[in-house]
Amino acid sequence: MGVWELSVYVSVLLLALSGSPVLGSLRNVTADVFGSESYGKVAAFGDFNADKQTDMFIIRSGNELWIFLADLKGTPYFHPNVKLSLKSEDVVITSVVPGDYDGDSQMDVLLTTIPKDKVNTDVPLTAVIYWGLNQTLNVNSKTRLNNTYLDEPLIIDFNGDLIPDIFGVTGEGAKPLITYGGGNLSVTTTLNTKNKMFIPHSHAFVDLTTDFTADLFLTTVSGASEIQFETWENKGGNFTESTLIIQKPKDVKIVGQSVFADFGILNFTGWL
Ligand SMILES: *[C@@H]1O[C@H](CO)[C@@H](O)[C@H](O)[C@H]1NC(C)=O
Ligand SMILES: *[C@@H]1O[C@H](CO)[C@@H](O)[C@H](O)[C@H]1NC(C)=O
Ligand SMILES: *[C@@H]1O[C@H](CO)[C@@H](O)[C@H](O)[C@H]1NC(C)=O
Ligand SMILES: *[C@@H]1O[C@H](CO)[C@@H](O)[C@H](O)[C@H]1NC(C)=O
Ligand SMILES: *[C@@H]1O[C@H](CO)[C@@H](O)[C@H](O)[C@H]1NC(C)=O
Ligand SMILES: *[C@@H]1O[C@H](CO)[C@@H](O)[C@H](O)[C@H]1NC(C)=O
Repeated sequence: MGVWELSVYVSVLLLALSGSPVLGSLRNVTADVFGSESYGKVAAFGDFNADKQTDMFIIRSGNELWIFLADLKGTPYFHPNVKLSLKSEDVVITSVVPGDYDGDSQMDVLLTTIPKDKVNTDVPLTAVIYWGLNQTLNVNSKTRLNNTYLDEPLIIDFNGDLIPDIFGVTGEGAKPLITYGGGNLSVTTTLNTKNKMFIPHSHAFVDLTTDFTADLFLTTVSGASEIQFETWENKGGNFTESTLIIQKPKDVKIVGQSVFADFGILNFTGWL
């Protein structure tokens, strides 16, 4: 998982190659899929109503979250059934991360926001979880995290309890903070990092040691202000120290998002 906002306009999802509605075997199905509702920014995917169909989370006007529930039975396939409007709060939604943050089997939504008048400035992000109840979201049923984030938080299950936790650098301390889901969200711990996190981050939760347990991959900044990549091996659910630090290769000029794939016979050490 990384930064979630994709900024893809729905209408260009399917066919942006030609003005013609039919091109070879490609067909513009936007109207079948969305009807007349094909506008907004796709922010996330997830099964919100637990019907085993993937629903879409779409931001409109910067401050409205719409959940398009999938309906196999008819056209259009997606209907904008659930709406959460933050209009009255004068904020812009910067990221949407669906997940069951309290473990009640109902999907909740974590939103990060910034004040509307601070767009394009360097302000910390506010993170608020809106609690899913009976397949709806209510603007009053929410928990605002006490800390603000300097970068989009990473959502991972740190403690292996199958409930997502929130990891990120806050405005309140240099070390990344982990806020555990499942309780009252006031139980936290910090990760004992020695280096500053690189912003924007490209952290990941992925098995890098081939032991079938996800490890932590962090992009950090070394003492010499060089970008580096740290692996924190998951040892029985504990992340006590970085087990491998790889410096950015010397000739690399720009560091963007890290991508992970099974490159075959090379292990991670052999790769860089
Ligand atoms: C695809 O269909 C949608 C909805 O009918 C339309 O708005 C869009 O312009 C079409 N795109 C192309 C490339 O034809
Ligand atoms: C949620 O739905 C259940 C079953 O339909 C109902 O019993 C319950 O009262 C509802 N809860 C709320 C808060 O609407
Ligand atoms: C939150 O939960 C923890 C652990 O269950 C508990 O120790 C703490 O007192 C709770 N805090 C509040 C403010 O309820
Ligand atoms: C935020 O801080 C207040 C006061 O310390 C505390 O009562 C509350 O439980 C905290 N909330 C979260 C989500 O940490
Ligand atoms: C992980 O940390 C816990 C609590 O500090 C400790 O009890 C446990 O032995 C540690 N596990 C491993 C595999 O190091
Ligand atoms: C990983 O690859 C490097 C270079 O090919 C090799 O030296 C090393 O032994 C390999 N490590 C493991 C654990 O296979």
